[in-house]
Amino acid sequence: MKCVVKTTPIAKVDVDALLWFHAEEEDAIPADLPAELHPHIRESMIREQFEGKEGQILTVSSRGSIAAYKLLIVGTGKRKDVDVFRLQKAVATAVYTVQTQIKPARIAIVIPPYWTGQFDGVNAVAAVVEAVHLASYRFLRYKSEEERKKLRMLEEVILPVSAARVEGTEKGIALAEIFSRATIMARDLVNEPSEVTTPTHLASVAQDIGKSSKGAVSVKISDKSEIEKMKMGAFLGVARGSDEPPKLIRLEYNRAKRGKTVVLIGKGITFDTGGLSLKSADHMETMKLDMAGAAAVLAVFSVLPILRPEVHVIGYIASCENMPSGKALKPGDILRAYNGKTIEVLNTDAEGRLTLADVLSYAADNDKPQVMIDLATLTGACMVALGNDIAGLWSTSDTLLSSLEKSAVATGEKIWRMPLENEYMELVKSHIADLKNTQTGRYGGAVTAALFLSEFTGTIPWAHLDIAGPSYNEKSSPLVPKGGTGFGVRLLLHFLSTYRSV
Ligand code: BES
Ligand code: ZN
Ligand code: ZN
Repeated sequence: MKCVVKTTPIAKVDVDALLWFHAEEEDAIPADLPAELHPHIRESMIREQFEGKEGQILTVSSRGSIAAYKLLIVGTGKRKDVDVFRLQKAVATAVYTVQTQIKPARIAIVIPPYWTGQFDGVNAVAAVVEAVHLASYRFLRYKSEEERKKLRMLEEVILPVSAARVEGTEKGIALAEIFSRATIMARDLVNEPSEVTTPTHLASVAQDIGKSSKGAVSVKISDKSEIEKMKMGAFLGVARGSDEPPKLIRLEYNRAKRGKTVVLIGKGITFDTGGLSLKSADHMETMKLDMAGAAAVLAVFSVLPILRPEVHVIGYIASCENMPSGKALKPGDILRAYNGKTIEVLNTDAEGRLTLADVLSYAADNDKPQVMIDLATLTGACMVALGNDIAGLWSTSDTLLSSLEKSAVATGEKIWRMPLENEYMELVKSHIADLKNTQTGRYGGAVTAALFLSEFTGTIPWAHLDIAGPSYNEKSSPLVPKGGTGFGVRLLLHFLSTYRSV
């Protein structure tokens, strides 16, 4: 699908459907539609009780009086309540409706002038275009040709604007294409079966990113014997139950004038059976998603050479499978992490924190970054706390917290501040080792997991995003069909583009 700007008057744009947006309690029929159409539109609004409420969509025939075949009026709710999330939801709902109702090849979207005022021109356009790309996404690789043919994909989206807006609109389109492409790459990686996305596969994806970056991204893959030399005992403990060899992936991109090093870490468990503390069949069904953090980090690096932010970014992924076997880690085993701390493993299903512990302490020690951010599908407890749509955010730095929150607002990816409650630290202390990988008691599991990680970050300002909920859609929503969501990619890209060192 391609998106183009045109200065053609909207009455003359030749498309299957012309979409515009209507805020509640407002009258917003585009003025340049022919006068004879206005009463017809108004009558349809009254008869169908269309008031511009969020989620309302009104389809009206253009009666041949303009070039577009159909008109689609999309309710956005009250103007003051429209944020990037709601804006994208409205666009996505409209795209979904139009695709199911008239299977169009070409549509045009009229962006209301108040959006370009509210969000800054480029960003409003970027948000709209991103929503179109993301709502049109389908993972069809394993569908037969016959099934694929049934879906008619959008071929072209036209944004009709005045001559003065062309430049800003084009910038918005270009930005949206970069952000969407990366998000889609992360979705694809999560949607692929774990049989495909093995640690070795993720390593080769990283290498391909390096090769196609024209020198902008360098990649280093370490295999098991090197990981042993690096003394990552916790990561190796998790990896040892599987026949798939573990891989430590390191990516680096540097356009910073000085300093400004950001380390990004993605949890890269390519399948989480729980290990010997085996998950139930129900809980295991979606566990190919356990590399969603890694997918987000790879996706971010794949577009850094085009986005070209002036930062130094280092990405780490400690990738392995969590499998039960004769060689697998057993409850009661004690592992020694990179920083020398010992961990009693009481539940082999709390494996993510073990792999992250090594990478966090390794990066803190060797790269001495200004900040470290990890993305991990870490705990079911975070889903209990925040539901499916919101990621938990923990951080040792207030500045980092508020920068990430700003990026969340700007991209519509929802995150929520959670406490690193020191009183709970006792709950992850072991009687036999320094720490244990599960907690005493049943409650606050997402917080104790974050506290566990904080033992490995040294003095480096660090943020942890538990993306267990939002990384995967159990049922389709307008912006994301069932499956991987690519959560975190846009948030991180925005953060890196605006990073000023914290
Ligand atoms: N990968 C899971 C967390 C998860 C659950 C992600 C559901 C996405 C959806 C993680 O490794 C895990 O199993 N965590 C355990 C920790 C417990 C054993 C302390 C959990 O949350 O139950
Ligand atoms: Zn697990
Ligand atoms: Zn896991």
